[in-house]
Amino acid sequence: MIRLPLIALLLAPLAPPDRPDIIVADFEGPSYRPWVAVGEAFGDRPARGSLPGQMAVEGFEGAGLVNSFVGGDDATGSLTSPAFPIERKHLNFLIGGGKYPGQTCLDLLVDGRVARTATGPNDSPGGTERLAWASWDVAELIGKSAVLRVVDARKGGWGHINVDQVVQSDTPRGDAAMARSMAVAKRHLILPVDPKAPVRLVKVEVDGKLAREFDIRLAEGSPSFTAFLDLAPLGGRALEVSATLPIGSKALESITQADEPVDPQAIYREPGRPQFHFTSRRGWLNDPNGLVFFEGEYHLFYQHNPYGWDWGNMSWGHAVSPDLVRWKELPTAIEPHAYGDWAFSGSAVVDRANTSGFGDGKAPPLVAAYTSTGRGECIVSSLDRGRTWTEFTGTPVIKHEGRDPRLLWHEPTKRWVMALYDEPGGKGRDVVFYSSPDLKAWTYESRIGGFYECPDLFELPVEGKLGESSWVLSAADGEYLLGKFDGKTFAPEPGGKHRTWYGDFYAAQTFSSEPKGRRVQVGWGREITFPGMPFNQQMTVPCALTLRPTGDGVRLFANPVAELETLRVGQARGPKSSFRRGDAGETSIELPSDLLDIRAEVEVGSPGVFELALPGASVTYDVGRRVLTCNGTTAPLDPVGGAITLRLLVDRGSVEVFANGGRVAISRKLGERRGPGVLTGKSSGEGVRFQALEVFELGSSWR
Ligand code: FRU
Repeated sequence: MIRLPLIALLLAPLAPPDRPDIIVADFEGPSYRPWVAVGEAFGDRPARGSLPGQMAVEGFEGAGLVNSFVGGDDATGSLTSPAFPIERKHLNFLIGGGKYPGQTCLDLLVDGRVARTATGPNDSPGGTERLAWASWDVAELIGKSAVLRVVDARKGGWGHINVDQVVQSDTPRGDAAMARSMAVAKRHLILPVDPKAPVRLVKVEVDGKLAREFDIRLAEGSPSFTAFLDLAPLGGRALEVSATLPIGSKALESITQADEPVDPQAIYREPGRPQFHFTSRRGWLNDPNGLVFFEGEYHLFYQHNPYGWDWGNMSWGHAVSPDLVRWKELPTAIEPHAYGDWAFSGSAVVDRANTSGFGDGKAPPLVAAYTSTGRGECIVSSLDRGRTWTEFTGTPVIKHEGRDPRLLWHEPTKRWVMALYDEPGGKGRDVVFYSSPDLKAWTYESRIGGFYECPDLFELPVEGKLGESSWVLSAADGEYLLGKFDGKTFAPEPGGKHRTWYGDFYAAQTFSSEPKGRRVQVGWGREITFPGMPFNQQMTVPCALTLRPTGDGVRLFANPVAELETLRVGQARGPKSSFRRGDAGETSIELPSDLLDIRAEVEVGSPGVFELALPGASVTYDVGRRVLTCNGTTAPLDPVGGAITLRLLVDRGSVEVFANGGRVAISRKLGERRGPGVLTGKSSGEGVRFQALEVFELGSSWR
């Protein structure tokens, strides 16, 4: 373990300067000579990067390297160096590929025997073809004659080995365990991140006890952004941060402490930051979790990697809002139980009658269910408005091959219901239903096939049909069934599945206990990415769901909640801002902002196409094919009363389209754009005419 108090480095006596390194081989030549290749695996010359059928090989130096993937993973062979004298204390090299000692390895032979050996890092799927530095201490062998031999004697997965840049040196390269001790001085640990750096496992100990363990792409040198770890819940005084890092790494030294987790002046003002879609201050997010309204706050929990730009370290991030529009991010609500035992998706309810007994007699408890990937379905409760959670001692309440518990109260049977995604035998794709009187003891009731991840289940009245209602069972991909649910079994109506949402929309969930009696849904805008930003992925805008009769039967409609209109700061004005009734051909409006709420109504009386285009987004409707397209995503759509109505919400990273009053909704990543630009409306065909076009400028929900 290398320790890094700066003072020790400063006081260290001046060491004699190192002798220059001796390059044994860099594999930059046109052939292996004077090394000798035998068998099929190595070919007759160094590879130039990856070989056909191989993942991208990275981390080698120069243009060439040894890559025994010639002939794929099955070919075998060896590559042997001429004899050379050992003249330095260390032999350093880059190595990647299979982790099979004796089969996919680099050997150092002295006196005909294997004196040192090393393998690549991979023995299971999911590895990378990245070469990393490794080192042998060969001080005791100085003066001896040695031979290097690269071996590939293995067939099948990761049955290859990559080597480059073999160097004799007095300074070792490779990884070493490092630690840094600090006193807890401020509330947050500030961690430098470089999304391109390799993933490191970092451990944080407080007063000698392991408190957090997570993967992070720790930056060497200037970080792309900083992530933060809240020290407050850990208590304690003495901190130790440790990781295995390249010898000489300064990454741990650049970890600091600060009271503010992020710069309050800079946050939400980053150039790519969505202004009315939820994004996390830092790191990755995916599924919305635990959506519930309680004591004046809408709670948005979400799948969160607080330390990185990509998926990982799954915990429940947390934000609250008084109006579904203006969010305030709070500290992480549910941490992983342990490294690798992640807190996956789930839901939350208010246990008004305190059926669970988790309440304190003063206020009802919030109860959440989530998947602990290492244990099963867990129940947790909170008495401080979702800020901190206590695990039910009988957790896990259900163990199965599945995840994503959705809790709801079923009034007719006076039971709690849990709808879950289940994959029996790793094959099925079912939603299963359990029931419980108290959120603690769960009884299996039934299952229904054909759903993938994150079920949601709720009942809605059918608009305009007094006394009529239907249950909606949906899954992560946005498809839903209508039917009856008696608290135990879902009986679908004939007609199969339907969908309202298309495009970058996944794992949506609706709020429990919505105070206005609405069914408000939030989805994950999967694929909407923010390169170069300290955060990644966004939520879709909250939408009120309604069931309405259509020519095809009852269908689910989605429309942005009315609260979003409180963000309007203006309407585009000027001579070009309003369309004359019956305008055809082409017309345009100069856009006042890059944050927009656009409404259009287009008469579609004859075959033809119309397009609404603005920088980064194009929405077209093909009257003949009855297809709506937004940035490449298509959805079937029939005109209503000879017209199509559209509402477009345009933010920094996305465009959402709500067509025909929410019959079809599309969420899409926005293309490249600079500045607000111009909105153009084009139509072809006699009877394809813009009847109305309105542009509203939106303000930021963060200010
Ligand atoms: C859906 C999902 C869930 C899981 C979560 C993990 O996007 O795969 O099934 O709980 O994400 O982050």
